[in-house]
Amino acid sequence: MRALTVERASTLRGHTVLLRASLNVPVENGVVRNPFRLDAALKTVTLLSSAGARVVLISHIDGDGSPSLRPVYEYLKTKVPLVFVEDVAGERARAAVHALTDGHVALIENVRRDAGEVVNDDAFARRLASLGDVYVNDDFAAAHRKHASIIGVPQYLPSYAGLQFVAEVEGLTKALEPKSPSLAIVGGAKFVTKEPLIRALLPKYDFVFVGGALAIDFYKAKGYEVGKSLVSDSPHLADLLTNSKVILPVDATVVGPAGTFVKDVRELLPNDTIYDIGPKSIETLKPLAAKARTVLWNGPLGNFEKGFSSMTEELAKVLADAPGVSVVGGGDTIAAIQKLGLNDKFEFVSTAGGAMLDFLAHGTLPGIEALKNAKTL
Ligand code: 3PG
Repeated sequence: MRALTVERASTLRGHTVLLRASLNVPVENGVVRNPFRLDAALKTVTLLSSAGARVVLISHIDGDGSPSLRPVYEYLKTKVPLVFVEDVAGERARAAVHALTDGHVALIENVRRDAGEVVNDDAFARRLASLGDVYVNDDFAAAHRKHASIIGVPQYLPSYAGLQFVAEVEGLTKALEPKSPSLAIVGGAKFVTKEPLIRALLPKYDFVFVGGALAIDFYKAKGYEVGKSLVSDSPHLADLLTNSKVILPVDATVVGPAGTFVKDVRELLPNDTIYDIGPKSIETLKPLAAKARTVLWNGPLGNFEKGFSSMTEELAKVLADAPGVSVVGGGDTIAAIQKLGLNDKFEFVSTAGGAMLDFLAHGTLPGIEALKNAKTL
């Protein structure tokens, strides 16, 4: 995989660079709610634009009914010379790209509006590729998808990894090669999506703390009463119960008929529901975090959608003060860190969600392999 460097960018004046960027951000009432990914994406956009390249910005955005990237355009247009084209890879996009001058940027519409994107249709990949003469992938967060704009296009153009893409690979590689003593903290809800990560981390890390709703699956498997708490469908974790590296929260924030209480996890009643871990569990993490040379954290410890974010925020503060290298990621995890203004206290804050999990579990991603196999200039 060849990286886009400042030197390489300086040779791209007058070239048309198809830049796959990570512009999939939450939007509310037509306004970008969290620009974390956009600010990270701007590093490569401005590098190319200030080097005099003509930049064709492509991305997907999630939401009901294949939403538009227009809110993203409204945010980015104040930062770079940008036009928005309400077309993916048709005649209007082609005309807008043709009209670009050196240093200017055209954002084309949500690539997933074309059915060829998610199935990596070859004709669509060729049409996209024909919009530029160089391809840069800066969307690490989507590099786990075998989509046309991720793995199809680099078959047809000289290809490079963008600045954020390279930063993600480097940052997350540190978490894949932890220095002992090491601590991994995995939270969130769906056991099936986190199981490969937990299993991949156990041989590498000294301790793996399992929080969030994932921990409830462990309590249930141990035979504890879990009341009405969220549990996964038949999770495969019997062998993990006896693994001494796995640490579970010892207390939980529970909502029951009489209100909200912190309880020992062995004392739940049938009408109780766990919504967060408890303060004693944070205390058990403190000495481990203080000693760890590498800390990896992905996923919230409580149910964010229902407002149970306080233990996640407590953990963010503990890790911000920890002396080792801390690598963190996941939407809710980052939201907690940002809310507290702690971004700078972490060695690396990933912009990726599912791609981070897949990279940590498998050590590579389809988008990385596509760049490795691509030609360069
Ligand atoms: C993400 O938000 O994790 C990436 O942009 C990938 O989005 P997706 O899950 O819709 O493929």
